[in-house]
Amino acid sequence: SKEGYAHFMLKEIYQQPTAIRDTVERRIDEKGNIVLENISITKEVLEKINKIYIVACGTAYHAGLIGKYLFQTFLKVDTIADIASEFRYSEHNIDENTLVVIVSQSGETADTLQALKDAKEKGARILSITNVVGSSIARESDDVFYTWAGPEIAVASTKAYTTQLVAFYLMALHFGRLKNTIELTCYEEILNELRTLPEKLQITLSECDKKAKNISETIKDKQSVFYLGRGLDYYTALEGALKLKEISYIHTEAFPAGELKHGSIALIEEGTPVIAFATQSLIYDKIVSNIKEVKARGAYVVGVTRKKNEDLKEICDEVVLLEESFNIFMPLISVVVAQLISYYTALLKGNDVDKPRNLAKSVTVE
Ligand code: F6R
Repeated sequence: SKEGYAHFMLKEIYQQPTAIRDTVERRIDEKGNIVLENISITKEVLEKINKIYIVACGTAYHAGLIGKYLFQTFLKVDTIADIASEFRYSEHNIDENTLVVIVSQSGETADTLQALKDAKEKGARILSITNVVGSSIARESDDVFYTWAGPEIAVASTKAYTTQLVAFYLMALHFGRLKNTIELTCYEEILNELRTLPEKLQITLSECDKKAKNISETIKDKQSVFYLGRGLDYYTALEGALKLKEISYIHTEAFPAGELKHGSIALIEEGTPVIAFATQSLIYDKIVSNIKEVKARGAYVVGVTRKKNEDLKEICDEVVLLEESFNIFMPLISVVVAQLISYYTALLKGNDVDKPRNLAKSVTVE
């Protein structure tokens, strides 16, 4: 049931603090260490792994992009994130020393399942992240991380995505400790921060809901909406763009902000909406310059940033301020703003929010 919410999507957006808390807390033992049941990768296995592929479709692929960043940072292993339908038809050097991470909410996506089987055939170890116990993908895998998001009914994925991010945070920390590529103090600090995220997400949801609704009023009649970001923010931009197009039917595109001047900036005209994610502190100045570039061409700019970056109010038309956290956790906080904007825009357009045209919840055909 929708439990008083107008749509499953809104309910699922608001369930995220609980879904994240369940996915994290059930993996922490009384000593405060991460315990991953259904994953039997040992220190010896991990030390032999010299390459990681993360393979998925749609929103799950966007989670995989963040996973790639985390694995490279905390495991010091080169990681490639690929779209399942592309991965299947290209050449890869995969063997027993390759770990293939499969991400799928439903555990039934045809291209993702076949990519898994192909990689398994070549000898790779298969670890999957899925929300459905006993799904085809879970059954075919060596190791499984179950997200405890609960059933996701709305076609547009929300809580499955944020719990997939949590899966990557926990695995990157756990494997990093096993391999000794992350120091104990660092591990503890990051894990403690991870445990504060349900609370921070709750605050963000209640503080940003109204603003998201107002932004939706402005963009609902536009032809195109552009999403910008750098680094991890670019991945949030990709997810925000997908979320808006699939339920509002407005054309959207995400750009790495540094690529703008190599072509895409030609599309910016008076009133073009640009949603810019600016949460990554090391490259904050860079995204600010990009915001100024689109603003100078007349864009209507929404900046999504940390509370401390109030200065953005001077250059943007709207600023959404987020709870503070570590850089690596900002995608989890900022994506809820994109989810809310999508929801309210689709609602204002009178679309069937939970069952958008042409889409199925589980894509079991190629
Ligand atoms: C977007 C969305 C899709 C799915 C994709 C993969 O909101 O829901 O892009 O993420 O079809 O589905 P799973 O994760 O079930 O393999």
